[in-house]
Amino acid sequence: MLALFLLASYLLLSPEPWPVSLHIAKRPPDFKAWHDAELALPQNNASLPPPQGRQGRYVRFSNHYTHEGWGNVMQELLMNAHLAYVANATFVMYNYTWDPYARGDASLFLFTKVVPARTPMSALVAGPVAGGSYPEEAWRPPAVTPEFFEKICPEPTLFDVSRLKNESEIHPWTSASDIMDVFSAHIQTSRDNCMEFKADTGRIFDWDLFANVERMRSLWPTFKHSPILTEWAWSPLVSSILRDNYARIHPLAGDAESNSILPGLLAMHIRRGDFVRHCTRLADRNQTYQAFNAFEGMLDQFVPPRGWGGERNQAYYDAYRERCYPEQEAIVAKVSQVRMEALEQGRPLNRIYVLTNGDAAWTKDLERELRGEGEWESVTSSRDLEVDWEQHFVAQAADMVIAARAEIFIGNAWSSLTSNVNMLRVVRGVPIETSRFW
Ligand SMILES: *[C@@H]1O[C@H](CO)[C@@H](O)[C@H](O)[C@H]1NC(C)=O
Ligand SMILES: *[C@@H]1O[C@H](CO)[C@@H](O)[C@H](O)[C@H]1NC(C)=O
Ligand SMILES: *[C@@H]1O[C@H](CO)[C@@H](O)[C@H](O)[C@H]1NC(C)=O
Ligand SMILES: *[C@@H]1O[C@H](CO)[C@@H](O)[C@H](O)[C@H]1NC(C)=O
Ligand SMILES: *[C@@H]1O[C@H](CO)[C@@H](O)[C@H](O)[C@H]1NC(C)=O
Repeated sequence: MLALFLLASYLLLSPEPWPVSLHIAKRPPDFKAWHDAELALPQNNASLPPPQGRQGRYVRFSNHYTHEGWGNVMQELLMNAHLAYVANATFVMYNYTWDPYARGDASLFLFTKVVPARTPMSALVAGPVAGGSYPEEAWRPPAVTPEFFEKICPEPTLFDVSRLKNESEIHPWTSASDIMDVFSAHIQTSRDNCMEFKADTGRIFDWDLFANVERMRSLWPTFKHSPILTEWAWSPLVSSILRDNYARIHPLAGDAESNSILPGLLAMHIRRGDFVRHCTRLADRNQTYQAFNAFEGMLDQFVPPRGWGGERNQAYYDAYRERCYPEQEAIVAKVSQVRMEALEQGRPLNRIYVLTNGDAAWTKDLERELRGEGEWESVTSSRDLEVDWEQHFVAQAADMVIAARAEIFIGNAWSSLTSNVNMLRVVRGVPIETSRFW
């Protein structure tokens, strides 16, 4: 096993031409066209008048997440970009980076699955975080590439995040708005126009912040109006997945630039795989819902089981597992219940789309069970999407597009992907009672 891993790593990380004679794994796409398009953005121009060009103020977040799923990376990306926006500095784009140290385009996920070491952000998203324009009333210079930043700012002022947090007395319980204010003031008072948060010095907005509604609450009233959220859009590559597959999902899903609700569609997010262990760890930490799954008025909030505040017993773990890792029978029962309640609200449901990382056999089984539950015009899942090699690596974003536009969405309350979907739904004014949880 180790030998195989070493061999695979050697083959993947080797800068030599891909050894086609050894079909160990298919090389991931290099996304070169997307990266080239970023480099060609007109804002990467030193001669532009201020506040752009050589005299602009720039902030680069080299401390961003790596080796993390897209849900976590998206959360941090939104906050970093919002910070640059409130601090009135130009955001420097970055890649969705799995492995910053990979020599080639490929890296390994859990030692087995070949993944792109880096995905240009513009292959996943559009809008301000990917170099798109800001609305007139909230104008900022559009984001530039790191390559342009390095040219304009050969010696930026480097900020050490953990030292700054220490000096500013930012604690693990400090609210998101206080952290935003401290770092915004820091950027605004910098005498250097070239600023960079140093890699490997910790994150400004850490995992716990997004998992803690109490810490996030004070930021929401301003954050929800941020152009980073209101102008959030998906990339043409993600949209192309919807255009290629809409007939299986919903007749209106092919209009990928639209955020309109897909009437009658019930989307549901079911985490499988690593979540079986993750759910136990969540219980060990008494973990509450992700912040954007706990908005005032959202249904299906977690009622602390017995054992909370006392000795933790099997019932305590079962209560977590029922909601965090529901089995097929419970899923089908919940779907029946939600369908009935939706009908009472005047929202008849007739199609299902399942967002899942479950394996193909398990997912097929579930689809069959769901079809048996009642009359549905279509029941499809992530596993049914037909995608090409580039689309394959951004398909989770297509799942999010569908979930954000579903008439009713049942999510996993501890999942960052679910949380991001619900955040987008709330920003777009989708009624809060249409977001449900297992
Ligand atoms: C860069 O900006 C200057 C000033 O606006 C303009 O004259 C020039 O054409 C731009 N260069 C490119 C390559 O767009
Ligand atoms: C942002 O910075 C520009 C100059 O770079 C300045 O003209 C503008 O007034 C600033 N806006 C805010 C809201 O501070
Ligand atoms: C971003 O990814 C592209 C490949 O898609 C790569 O050429 C570039 O160096 C990466 N940028 C950084 C800062 O790692
Ligand atoms: C934080 O500050 C304390 C003293 O105030 C110091 O002991 C500690 O080493 C600092 N930690 C970091 C990461 O700078
Ligand atoms: C979780 O709750 C239990 C019971 O109140 C408590 O003993 C334990 O310290 C808590 N664990 C964490 C990580 O907060």
